[in-house]
Amino acid sequence: MQQPLTPAEIVRELDKYIIGQKDAKRMVAIALRNRWRRQQVPENLRDEIAPKNIIMIGATGVGKTEIARRLARLAQSPFLKIEASKFTEVGYVGRDVESMIRDLMELAVSMVRTEEMEAVKLKAEEVAEEKLLDILLPPKRQQETVDQQQMIEEPDAMKAAQEEADHADSTREKLRKLLRKGSLDDRYVELDVPDRNIPMIEIFAGTGMEDMDYSLREMLGSMMPRRSKRRKVKIPEARDILIEEESQRLVDMDKVIRSAIERVEHSGIIFLDEIDKIAGRESGRGPDVSREGVQRDLLPIVEGSTVTTKYGMVRTDHILFIASGAFHISKPSDLIPELQGRFPIRVELTSLSKDDFVRILKEPENALIVQYMALLATEEVELIFEDDAIDEIAETAFHVNTRTENIGARRLHTIMEKLLSEISFNAPDLKGQTIRITRDDVRNTLQDIIKDEDLSRYIL
Ligand SMILES: Nc1ncnc2c1ncn2[C@@H]1O[C@H](COP(=O)(O)OP(=O)(O)OP(=O)(O)O)[C@@H](O)[C@H]1O
Ligand SMILES: [Mg+2]
Repeated sequence: MQQPLTPAEIVRELDKYIIGQKDAKRMVAIALRNRWRRQQVPENLRDEIAPKNIIMIGATGVGKTEIARRLARLAQSPFLKIEASKFTEVGYVGRDVESMIRDLMELAVSMVRTEEMEAVKLKAEEVAEEKLLDILLPPKRQQETVDQQQMIEEPDAMKAAQEEADHADSTREKLRKLLRKGSLDDRYVELDVPDRNIPMIEIFAGTGMEDMDYSLREMLGSMMPRRSKRRKVKIPEARDILIEEESQRLVDMDKVIRSAIERVEHSGIIFLDEIDKIAGRESGRGPDVSREGVQRDLLPIVEGSTVTTKYGMVRTDHILFIASGAFHISKPSDLIPELQGRFPIRVELTSLSKDDFVRILKEPENALIVQYMALLATEEVELIFEDDAIDEIAETAFHVNTRTENIGARRLHTIMEKLLSEISFNAPDLKGQTIRITRDDVRNTLQDIIKDEDLSRYIL
């Protein structure tokens, strides 16, 4: 496994996409690093070290979900992001809380499986090549007709047989060269392709199949007639199919599952987004009843319990939970006390300033400006934003945020969309042109809307 990133490296990676929010970045970086540290601690102590769950608090559109998304890529461990509002209390219609552990497990299995497949890839490729050659040049029965006795008695026959074999060998080698060079890529071969596209899921759909024990499913699977289809495919596709088949044969699924469980238990991370939506205590009526129920259901999982998945039991003691919420209406203190206690670390994300907006427009690798430029470049329209224009966009966004609702950086999206709608629409006719956006352009396009507060509520 790759050397895990240090907290500073993690923050640096996050900096590429998220502007500001230093505290939150540092906290999640530490939490991530702690996963690895814990693994290095002697075993007797390791079990005692519980993950320090985090709540990120911040107004809407300041980067909470974005941090989680980017973190997921860095984590190198099973990472599930899920909206707390998706859950409902057991007994209500909706997803039960335990399903997130099952989902995490699913992720881990496919993660480990992909790694294992990668590990056997070379081997699988070799085998696939041999198989392809076999198809292209079916191997002759090793001259069984010429038996030993005959060979001794008739040295000529032996020689002929040997020559023929040599010849076959060299043809095979020649073919191999052509194959590797790609000269045969246009040729078709016939192949038995397993018809895996009618998994039993379809047949058993709706019977809670997803929760069925893995081995039971396998068993049912193997009871079904194994269908395979003979298909004519081009050589590159044939190679892919053969490699896939071979890798699957080489990967030991039991081992994959064992190590996936291990990963989930020791380095799994669950990001519970929108946790404020389930905050709120018993008010006796309405959705609140269910909300508190969800919190109660969450407790054992966050605290540590065993969840049955189709791959086996998974302990949740050391899974790290990062929760996040805007907490506009509710406060973290509206969570039931037991749950509050299980999220000892709180970080606040700051509201974004005008300067932040300027940077958000320009700096991230996926910055909005870059995105629009790339989109229009496909129409061969070159878009250039003058610095003044960017400044004006940021200013406008900030202004509208203060005057109406503060929706954070999302305001930039609405403004940019409005600003560029003309150009976006006409782009196909502007082919070959370079368009400069100036401060005045921004003003002129947006002016009327901004002046009218009611209008800006609707449009921006
Ligand atoms: N600090 C930031 N740096 C760069 N981009 C940001 C930042 N904050 C928000 N954005 C951008 O704004 C959009 C919304 O951000 P995000 O989804 O993270 O909001 P959020 O904090 O989760 O809000 P909500 O509470 O509504 O879920 C995203 O496209 C994101 O890229
Ligand atoms: Mg969010």
